[in-house]
Amino acid sequence: MKIKETLSAEFDQFSNHYTEDMIRIVPHYLRLLSSLTDNLPADFSPTRILDLGCGNGNVTALLLKKFPGAKYVLLDASPDMLELCRGRFPGENITYVRSYFRDYTFPEDYFDLITACFSLHHCDSTEKQWIFPLLYAALKQGGVFTCSDLMVERNSPEHKALIGDWEAFVNASYPDGEKWAWLAEHHEVYDRPDAYADQKSWLLDAGFSYVDARWREDHWMHFIAGK
Ligand SMILES: C[S@@+](CC[C@H](N)C(=O)[O-])C[C@H]1O[C@@H](n2cnc3c(N)ncnc32)[C@H](O)[C@@H]1O
Repeated sequence: MKIKETLSAEFDQFSNHYTEDMIRIVPHYLRLLSSLTDNLPADFSPTRILDLGCGNGNVTALLLKKFPGAKYVLLDASPDMLELCRGRFPGENITYVRSYFRDYTFPEDYFDLITACFSLHHCDSTEKQWIFPLLYAALKQGGVFTCSDLMVERNSPEHKALIGDWEAFVNASYPDGEKWAWLAEHHEVYDRPDAYADQKSWLLDAGFSYVDARWREDHWMHFIAGK
């Protein structure tokens, strides 16, 4: 379980210049971030929100603007990422949890909204199928799970094509190739993306009443799932 042992250290390091890097290494990062708040149901006003794999808090920052009165749980394995969030959101109604998803006890019937932005692709298909029923159980009736991420199966022909386009995208900002070399290794070691169709089927199996893709460009996707 190399991922489990070293992922938090990997993201501690990545936390320096995280947002600037994400914009330049993840196609459509800002569009996929804003999708999480732009595509929520009309008249939705969550009071308890879980940001799963919160990183440096880019999703939470958007949510706080929209839902300033809500209570937040920010969960991440990386202490440095959580420290950035603490500095960024002083005085907000936030509980910080340093944990791997696998070690967290998800409360039942508790959250109105759960968001996962570029965090679930670090879970392999087994872990996704383990976590989706827990997310469903953690939501209140009428609650919503939203997700933006890379959604493509690593062994598929589509993945090969994606890698070529992705390399060109990264090299356009970092022409010496060093950033792509780092990212390609990071992707190999830490990323376990799955196709949207598979994730949709696992979410429906977990009990979600609908799963809708609301934005996509190739395999960079945003979907929403409702309880
Ligand atoms: C690519 S960052 C995304 C951060 C943020 N959601 C965003 O959109 O910018 C992935 C984050 O998820 C966290 N993460 C990934 N897998 C995790 C796991 N199994 N348990 C806890 N945290 C995890 C990492 O530590 C990292 O901070």
